[in-house]
Amino acid sequence: MILRRVWRSNCTRRPFSSFPYDRYPLDAPGCNVPRNIAERVGTNLHRQPQHPLGILQRQILEFWQPHGFDLYDQLSPIVSTTNNFDALRIPSDHVSRSPSDTYYLNADTVLRTHTSAHQHELLRAGHHRFLVSGDVYRRDEIDRSHYPIFHQMEGVKLFAPHEQNSIESELKESLEQLAEHLFGPDITKRWIDTYFPFTEPSFELEILFEGEWLEVLGCGVIHPEVLEKTGRGDEMGYAFGLGLERLAMVLFQIPDIRLFWTHDERFHRQFASGEIVQFEPYSKFPPCYKDISFWLESAFHVNDLNEIVRDVAGDLVERVWLMDDFVHPKTGKTSHCYRIAYRSMDRSLTNEEIDDLQEIVRNRVVDDLGVILR
Ligand code: DAH
Repeated sequence: MILRRVWRSNCTRRPFSSFPYDRYPLDAPGCNVPRNIAERVGTNLHRQPQHPLGILQRQILEFWQPHGFDLYDQLSPIVSTTNNFDALRIPSDHVSRSPSDTYYLNADTVLRTHTSAHQHELLRAGHHRFLVSGDVYRRDEIDRSHYPIFHQMEGVKLFAPHEQNSIESELKESLEQLAEHLFGPDITKRWIDTYFPFTEPSFELEILFEGEWLEVLGCGVIHPEVLEKTGRGDEMGYAFGLGLERLAMVLFQIPDIRLFWTHDERFHRQFASGEIVQFEPYSKFPPCYKDISFWLESAFHVNDLNEIVRDVAGDLVERVWLMDDFVHPKTGKTSHCYRIAYRSMDRSLTNEEIDDLQEIVRNRVVDDLGVILR
């Protein structure tokens, strides 16, 4: 009952979900998708014209459309492990494939972890200039900039054989212009060499924002093997991917990633289609901290704790972090102490309701993770 109460007080309406529960039952073996995640599938914040993510998506589209790019922003986030990983040369033992990091519906179907998951099918279908935007899913830490669902935009351009010597320079020039389109002509930028399995060479673009270097996007020249797998091994091209929340938090000055999911009118009435405005926080409610300590018994991954806390407290959880990590000198057992910060974006919390939630979390970690509370 508590769960329902939190859910209702947190949202003014139930989310729309297009998750195919019949086809992918959440209780099937190998499925690690909790109901609160499945319920968000189909929300499509990036397609809401008045939502900061929708406004940002439009601005990016505005930049690319004159260059002949088509947008795919309604592709299903349910994808095969082949498209999400193998087609992109992500090694079979890569950590990102682990069920501690990725939501699996079954052994070979996942909630996409990035929009790059659509490169293969769209290239195979013969497209050569496209953008893909959508919700992506990762089991991750909990803090102001991490949320298990976020949004990305991907771009791909293939070149005709006679244009192929200019790929890297065109890629860099175009993305620098995109950064100026979003952040203004005076923004300071720099390129960092990096590694992605699906591009070679690979780069990240950073901009100097309020004294700090901020990663804006990843990109590179598409790896020949990625193109070969689509039957287009004789072509060449570039690809890039950017995180919409990360950019929107900076552009609109939105301090907490959970705000993108709020139904509070005080948030939504501040934004209008086509405009980037500074968000004015409507109020700041006090956090409530609770600690939980336990002895680890078997394999333990912090993302499993994070999942439970989210499942129980929804968007009332602001941050979860390790406070203490201790090995008993005699038994050799490891103990972890985590602090959970509860804070609502929209209202004051009562001590009793947080005590109730914390009690459920304590029971769930014992039942689901087999740890021993201290
Ligand atoms: N898929 C990458 C990620 O989620 C982002 C990315 C990097 C996409 C480089 C690309 C690319 O298309 O070329 O972190």
